[in-house]
Amino acid sequence: MKITHISAECYPVAKVGGLADVVGALPKYQHDAGFTSEVIMPFYDNKFTKNSEFSVLFTSKLNLGKQEYPYQVKTLNNNNLGFNLYLVDIPELLFTDYVYSFDDTDRFLAFQIAALNWMLTWDEKPTTVHCHDHHTGLIPFMMTQSKDYSALKNIPTVLTIHNAQYQGWFSHEKVGLIPEFNFSNVGLLDWDGSINPLASAIKCAWKVTTVSPSYMEEMKKAANGLESLLSHESAKCTGILNGIDWEVWNPETDPYLIGNYNINTVELGRDVNKKWLCSQYNLDFKKPLFAFIGRLVGEKGADLFPKAFEKALQKSNISIFLLGSGNDAVEVKLIELKKDFEGSYNAFIGYDEKLAHIVYAGADFILMPSRVEPCGLNQMYALRYGAIPIVRSIGGLKDTVIDISEKGGFGICHKEVTVLEITEAIERGVKLFKNKTTYNKIRKKIMGINHSWDASALAYINLYKSLNQ
Ligand code: GLC
Repeated sequence: MKITHISAECYPVAKVGGLADVVGALPKYQHDAGFTSEVIMPFYDNKFTKNSEFSVLFTSKLNLGKQEYPYQVKTLNNNNLGFNLYLVDIPELLFTDYVYSFDDTDRFLAFQIAALNWMLTWDEKPTTVHCHDHHTGLIPFMMTQSKDYSALKNIPTVLTIHNAQYQGWFSHEKVGLIPEFNFSNVGLLDWDGSINPLASAIKCAWKVTTVSPSYMEEMKKAANGLESLLSHESAKCTGILNGIDWEVWNPETDPYLIGNYNINTVELGRDVNKKWLCSQYNLDFKKPLFAFIGRLVGEKGADLFPKAFEKALQKSNISIFLLGSGNDAVEVKLIELKKDFEGSYNAFIGYDEKLAHIVYAGADFILMPSRVEPCGLNQMYALRYGAIPIVRSIGGLKDTVIDISEKGGFGICHKEVTVLEITEAIERGVKLFKNKTTYNKIRKKIMGINHSWDASALAYINLYKSLNQ
């Protein structure tokens, strides 16, 4: 079996969010399970491509409408990622220092065309083409409808939706950019009067998955306009919970940490990391430390952070640390808050992979008051590192965190995304922190929960098998 993943992001080459973590880990686990699993992604102008060496495998030109663009497919030399990695280099379009911006339609359409043109030349075609999110959403359509790709027509395709909020909409005026197809099937591209790559992939892929069972159900009620389409196509849709890379996210070996630890040394080990974090960011080591890591966007509830943090810091003797960036107005408020709560609140605006790892190892609680959370990986990283997740019960958070009030519970859950519920959840965390016996028991328990990719990677394999019978 040869599985070809096609994605805009893949860790460690280019990461904006959780999509990269999944595409950087799932193929590795599939490869380890004895299958050929590979990734095709764009060649961006970033730190990773600057510091790595590549060999050119293929040189050609592609047409985007009337415009012609030269491109190359490169492979990574000295690859220790655990799967084959191919990068499509279209210097005039893709070679940018960003992953996403205003010109995504042309860039990702060209990327998809280049990937398929190259695939046409392969002796061994994929057993399954696995597309991720809307950036690769036109592939199932082109493979089944475009005349140029009729040789790829019978290869099964899978779409994984990591986030249905973003759909890649563009105007029908640009339909001419898509390689020629029987125009009577243009409806397969359309949703609500626009070309909608995510909707098109839901219609044309052989199977559609999303990253948790609960999110699959929730999308039938709320999917940024695609609810009825997902209900209609539900027979081919399943939710498969993401895993995390068990090797990268291992507190015992994690090179980013100040001190490594395991389930038996968790107390001392986490103290070392917390001490470092508190000394770097002027926080009191003795107080319970609540942290948020991620994008400062509405989906994550970020607009409520300034008010919620202010209320929580006024009410309880706690520390809060935030690592993230996003909405400008939210960033400004979060920076202003530092003045009022010096010594008990701090924020690092930006992203820093090393710091993120230390926060999981040093913070006592990880906050995730998401409005939408297809899977969420941060709660799984938190569990593995012994930080207690405080989550809004939705999507993947609902599928992975059980409230301490329930049998077998280990986290703190709230129902709504409001300042009141966030601060109340923090208050419950403070109480738990004070009860040292229970608190320590829970820390050990959560470190033993297995969210590695093993089971889910096989669930995908079974899905591909069902398509190739
Ligand atoms: C997106 C989702 C997140 C999910 C990730 C990986 O970033 O918002 O919930 O964990 O993709 O699938």
